[in-house]
Amino acid sequence: MIVLGIETSCDDTAAAIVEHGAPGSGAPPRLRSNVVAAQDVHREFGGVVPELASRAHLELLPGAVESALARADIGFADVDGIAVTRAPGLLGALLVGVSYAKGLAVALERPFVGVNHIEAHLLAPLLEGAVFEFPAVGAVVSGGHSEIFVVHAIGSYAIVGTTRDDAIGEAFDKAAKLLGLGFPGGPVVDRLAAEGDPKRHPLPRGMIGSGDLDLSYSGLKAATRRLVEGPAGAILRDAPESEEAAQLRADICASFQVAAVDPLLSKLETAARRHGARSLVVGGGVASNSRLRDGLAALGARLGIPAYRPSPALCADNAAMIALVGGLRLLRGERDGLDLEPVPGLDESGLVSTGAPA
Ligand code: KG4
Ligand code: ZN
Repeated sequence: MIVLGIETSCDDTAAAIVEHGAPGSGAPPRLRSNVVAAQDVHREFGGVVPELASRAHLELLPGAVESALARADIGFADVDGIAVTRAPGLLGALLVGVSYAKGLAVALERPFVGVNHIEAHLLAPLLEGAVFEFPAVGAVVSGGHSEIFVVHAIGSYAIVGTTRDDAIGEAFDKAAKLLGLGFPGGPVVDRLAAEGDPKRHPLPRGMIGSGDLDLSYSGLKAATRRLVEGPAGAILRDAPESEEAAQLRADICASFQVAAVDPLLSKLETAARRHGARSLVVGGGVASNSRLRDGLAALGARLGIPAYRPSPALCADNAAMIALVGGLRLLRGERDGLDLEPVPGLDESGLVSTGAPA
C-alpha cells in the first residue's frame, strides 16, 4: 500500500511517500521519498507568522507533492491512500493541507485519514526499524511542544508531564535571538555550545527537583536575557566581533543547553522508572540536539532499555511520519470522511482521550 503523506501544521510544507507492507506480512514500512519545502518568509520576522505560513503552504504544497511522487518514481495513480496532519497546529495552516488532501482523495477516488502530528513525532522511529516495547516513555520536544507521554500501545497515549509555560524549542530560539544568532536558533546554539564552558555562567535548570514530571522554560529565558543584557554581557555590545565575545556566546550557549536539556532528561528518567518503561523515544525538532541525543542514549543504557531518536530529517517536521501513522490507520481499515475538520489544540485533538490508562 502506497501512502502519500501531507504535513502543513506549522511553517514547513511537506509531502512524502511511504510504502506499507500488507497487514501481517511483517514487512516494515519503507520510506520512498521525503520532501520538505521550508518557508523562508519567517526568517526576517524571527518567528513563525501564521498568515504568511498559510499563504506559503498554498503556494508550495502542489510542488512538494509532485516532487514527493517524482522522487519515489510514481504517479498519482499509484497512490493507494492519503494521510494528512489534522491536529495540532496553526488553524489556517492545517486547513490548507486538510482541504488539499480531501480534494485529492475525491479526485483520485482514494481513502484519506487525518493524523495527529504529535503521535507521528512519537512513532517516527518506526520508519528506521525501531521496535517499541510497551509501555514506552516518550517526549515530543519542538518549537511548540514539550510533553512527556506514556505510550501503552500504538494508539494509546497518556500525557504525564508538560511545560508550565514555554516550549523548549521556543526557549532555544529565544536564546539564539538574544545572542543575535538568527532563527530558528536551536541548531546554532547546539553547535556553539560544543565550544563553550557551561560552568562559566551557570543558568537555572527549571523545575529539575520539583518531583513531578512538568517542565518550565520561562525562568531560563529570563535569566538568559539578564545575563546577555547585564554587565557580564558588555563585551557582546562593545566588541561583538571580538574573539572574547565569540567565546562568551559559546559559553552562554553551553550553559543554556545544559539548563534546557538536563531537566528534560531528569524528568524522562523519573517517568521511565515510575511507569516501568520498556523503551524510550524522543521526537520533534529539539530531538536533534546533541546533548539530548547523548543523554538519552546514556539513560537507555542505564535503564537497560532501547532508546529511540529519529535521524535529524525525521525529528523535524516532515510528512514521512504522517504517511507512516496514516498508513497504519488505513491498514486497520480506518477512513475519514469529507467532514474532517482541522483541530489546532493538542488537548482537543483526541490524542489522549479515549481509553488511555493514566
Ligand atoms: O519539530 P520542529 O521542526 O517544528 C516545530 O516547532 O513543530 O522543531 C523546530 C524547533 C525549533 O525551535 C528549533 O530551534 C529546534 O526545533 N531545534 C533544535 C535543534 N534543531 C532544531 N533545538 C536544539 N538543538 C538542536 N540541534
Ligand atoms: Zn512538530
